[in-house]
Amino acid sequence: MPEKKVFIQTIGCQMNIYDSERIGDLMSRSGYGVVDSADQANLIIVNTCAIRDKAEQKLYSLLGRLAPLKQQNPDTILAVGGCVAQQEGASMLSRVPYLDLVFGTDALDRLPTLVDRVALKKARIVDVGPRMSGENNQDPGAQISGGGVSQFVTIMRGCDNYCTYCVVPFVRGRETSRPPEQIIKEIKMRVASGAREVTLLGQNVNSYGNKEELVSFADLLTRVNEVGGLERIRFTTSHPKDLSKELIAAFGRLEKLCRHIHLPVQSGSDKILHRMNRKYTLAHFAERVARLRADYPGIAITSDIIVGFPGETESDFQMTLDMIRGIRFDSLFAFKYSDRPNAAATQFKEKIPAKEKARRLQALLGLQQQITLEKNKALIGTRQVVLVEGFSKTSATKEVQWSGRTSTSKIVNFRDDPIRDDQVRDDQARPPDGNDLTGKLITVVIKKGFFHSLLGASVTQSPILSRKGVQSRAA
Ligand code: SAH
Ligand code: SF4
Ligand code: F3S
Repeated sequence: MPEKKVFIQTIGCQMNIYDSERIGDLMSRSGYGVVDSADQANLIIVNTCAIRDKAEQKLYSLLGRLAPLKQQNPDTILAVGGCVAQQEGASMLSRVPYLDLVFGTDALDRLPTLVDRVALKKARIVDVGPRMSGENNQDPGAQISGGGVSQFVTIMRGCDNYCTYCVVPFVRGRETSRPPEQIIKEIKMRVASGAREVTLLGQNVNSYGNKEELVSFADLLTRVNEVGGLERIRFTTSHPKDLSKELIAAFGRLEKLCRHIHLPVQSGSDKILHRMNRKYTLAHFAERVARLRADYPGIAITSDIIVGFPGETESDFQMTLDMIRGIRFDSLFAFKYSDRPNAAATQFKEKIPAKEKARRLQALLGLQQQITLEKNKALIGTRQVVLVEGFSKTSATKEVQWSGRTSTSKIVNFRDDPIRDDQVRDDQARPPDGNDLTGKLITVVIKKGFFHSLLGASVTQSPILSRKGVQSRAA
């Protein structure tokens, strides 16, 4: 029998990355080795995203590229899972004649059985059914792969908000929260596997536990903060309508909670926000941002914006630009609106032409680029604590450059060339001395600010402090 090898390709959000990791664990428990290219595999799994039509197109062009592999080796099993699989179901089998398996977002736990059935019976199978009782695809189980410094933990699934543009409630189902004990158990396992930072994931983390009457999100954060060996906590996504005073206070109370919040605003026009069913006004959003900044100066605030929502006039769009000028986000993800199956806005009239959506997106990104750059440059000369995630080598000089993020989630690259606090000098290259900084918290001084990242130089303690350090170690 040939060795069983699986290749997993992920399209989509952090939750999909998390689910793909889970797929990898499930398949390795059933005897598959995970490989990193499709041509080495006899099982190819594509975990998909349906959020915009672009993501869906990406899937079909990927499947087109995989077709020759299937022709060369008809025994290779090709499976599609995730949000597009949930949305399209059996119709995917007719659209893609060489596809063997379609499994939905709640069929994850059944995947090993489904793959066995395809292999044994040479059948084509669709499973987009609900999670079955007794099945618990939310338990971390015995294995945690990944092993990176920064790892994801899904704390809730699905969404009940029905924003009128959004497909998530249809492909991920109703909002359900995982019990806190299970989350803490998983985080402890992840810390044991090397995690120093976790990002708690949910479509609307602020409403964590409400439905099941579990603990509040702020209380969950308090418990996560107590996990030994964990240095940093992040979370995403917060819905502005549910951003509570209790959660805002948590940034002050919990030392591990990073000073960054992703707060998608979507539009600067109250008319559009209403048509999107976002259930807040721009004034409410601006008030929450002002509160966060008053309480925690320097906190990073990032956001998502959709341009060209049906009925968005030039004046609505200008309100969005004005809002961006006023709020000055640290960075933004901006998207052209696209119709999604089942989403209410698909039926809305006054659709914006593609060319106009592209123009608005460019204008918005140009404005934000300037703001992000100004904000990053304003950090020059400041000290930042960076959690090191890894390193790269510059090809010319083979110098090691370490890379990590600040508490405010900005990427910092730096060479491990400590300068003293009280010295000012230019960066100097130093050959790597085998000192692995991965997973460590390193203080750096910011030297340069770019659009996507910062350049820093690591800092040693001042001579007096380091002498004290030696004395206390000797004592
Ligand atoms: N739950 C999160 C968002 C998840 S989707 C929240 O409520 O903010 C991530 C982003 O994709 C959204 O914030 C939105 O900006 C964008 N998006 C969702 N549906 C879209 C659509 N139909 N067209 C364009 N962008 C969309
Ligand atoms: Fe989609 Fe709105 Fe739910 Fe976010 S809150 S996942 S945008 S329906
Ligand atoms: Fe995409 Fe599904 Fe995530 S639609 S954004 S992969 S929840």
